[in-house]
Parts: sequence; C-alpha cells; structure tokens
Amino acid sequence: MQQKITKAVFPVAGLGTRFLPATKANPKEMLSIVDKPLIQYAVEEAIDAGIETLIFITGRNKHCIQDHFDKAYELETELEKKGKVEQVNELKSLLPTHVSCVFIRQSEALGLGHAVNCAKPIIGNEPFVVLLADDLVRNKGNKSCTQQLIELFNKQQASILAVEPVAKKETDKYGIVSINPQNDVIGNLVSIVEKPKPENAPSNLAVIGRYVFTPSIFKHLDNLAKGAGGEIQLTDAIAKLLQEEDILSYKFEGKRYDCGSKLGYLIANVEYALLHPEIGSDFLHYLKKELNL
Ligand code: UTP
Repeated sequence: MQQKITKAVFPVAGLGTRFLPATKANPKEMLSIVDKPLIQYAVEEAIDAGIETLIFITGRNKHCIQDHFDKAYELETELEKKGKVEQVNELKSLLPTHVSCVFIRQSEALGLGHAVNCAKPIIGNEPFVVLLADDLVRNKGNKSCTQQLIELFNKQQASILAVEPVAKKETDKYGIVSINPQNDVIGNLVSIVEKPKPENAPSNLAVIGRYVFTPSIFKHLDNLAKGAGGEIQLTDAIAKLLQEEDILSYKFEGKRYDCGSKLGYLIANVEYALLHPEIGSDFLHYLKKELNL
C-alpha cells in the first residue's frame, strides 16, 4: 500500500554553540535571514510540500519558537489600529488553518538521533520528513528540496537522504555516504559514516539537513549508543536501517546555505538581501559603493 507523507519533524533543541553569545538566550533557529527566522523558511518549505503536522523538538530557551507560530492577538490589534493591513495579513498567513503544530521537549541535547526519536509517539507508523532549519535551501527551479524528496518517496517508497558534494577537506563536518548511482541524481546508499576525516571519507557526498524516513528508523534509534562527539547520532541509526532496507541518496536541485556556521549564515543574508524585493537594489548599490565595484 502506498503511504503518504503528512508529518515533518524540526529538531530545534541543539545548543547552537557556534553562535554564542547570540544563542545564549535565543535559539539558533530564530536567527533571521533578512527579515524572517530560519525556522520559518523551513516551515514554509514543509507546508508548501503538503505537510500538515509540524513537530518541533524543542529544548531550553526555545519558547520563542512556540510564540512565533502562535497567534499574536495584541500585535495584530495594534497593527490593525494603525491600518497596517499588509503586515497583519502576513502575520495571519504564517500558518494555514489546516496545519497543526506539536511541541515536544527534548530534556537534554543528547544528539540529533535522540531528538528525532522524541517524535516517535506523534509519527506512529508513517513515513515522515526531517528538516534542519539551519540548512537553508533556496529553490533553483520551481520545487523546494522537501517537495523533490516527497515526490521521489511517492515513486520509490524508501528512506531518502538529500546529498551534495562538498570539498574533500570538509568531510569531517558532515555525514558522508558512498552510493551506487541509479542515475545522475538518485543513488542507492552503500555506506554512511559521521564526520570522517578526509583521508577516511568514502566519498565527498555529504548528507544535508533534509531527510525522508520510513517509520523503521525508530527501532534503530531506540537504545542507540553514543557515537561521534559523544552524541546519539542519526547517522548511526541510518547505517543500521541500511542493513534491512534500501535507502536512497538524492542530489537535490537548489542552493544550500550552512546557516549553522557564521560564514554560511552571512552569505545567506547577503544573497537573500540582494534578492529581496524591498531592499535588493539599494543593497546592491550600497555594496558596489562600499567595495568600489
Ligand atoms: P547541530 O549540531 O548543527 O546544532 O545540530 P547545534 O548542536 O545546536 O550547533 P552547534 O554545533 O553547537 O553550533 C543539527 C540540528 O539538530 C538539532 C539542532 O537544533 C540543529 O537543528 N539538535 C541537535 C537537536 O534538536 N537536539 C540535539 O540534541 C542536537
């Protein structure tokens, strides 16, 4: 029987240590790219791809994510009084009425694998997507990364990892896979290893923060021992799942920005600012002047 994906998991309970002190009291996922927090980009991507249940795995200092997706009565009333109709409508359209949010607390940041496992009671026996909001993916064609993954799942009914080639010297920042290619974009996973040193990496194909999983992933996440960096690693559960099910890799169409790193975050801000309908041309003018271009 064909299964349909309607649920998305957003692990947002990490400590965001690379952005301290900005992330001391504020979650990394609430950092803005121009005028929108990272988590909202990921949520919009999921909803546009047909997701109806958003499951946030939250931790300490994350209440503002909950507030962000809640109705802001006072703010809306104030804006209405001032006649700021466009802004009111923008706030109201944040979450369509057919979409619901579930917030689950990860008591300790034990790792991404542990965070995803926290969603098990809500996911049940269904396939689902996972989006890491600190990987921002800009559409290049007319389909988002999540939409591409879901369309592939609908055809092949298997777990899928979004991948992209990275510089060999950067393999120790990612889960790295080796594959048997089906074609230029789809591959069958042969192995996966978390953050290998360049000399030990099986390839330069890195897993990025977009995944589709069949519910079988949960039995491998249960009782998983700590892996690389002393964390409960999603990668280790994927390696176990691979022993019993086919897993696909997919070279998505789109541009990924590593917003978990300062440089990636700044690059995303510059590129999104240049594309922004309100400030793009003024910002370009400013940059040209400042850089003597
Ligand atoms: P990262 O390792 O990139 O996030 O986890 P981090 O640990 O917050 O960041 P640094 O390295 O200390 O700067 C990838 C994703 O997994 C989530 C994070 O919130 C992020 O979206 N995560 C990680 C959890 O939800 N729980 C965890 O225990 C660990």
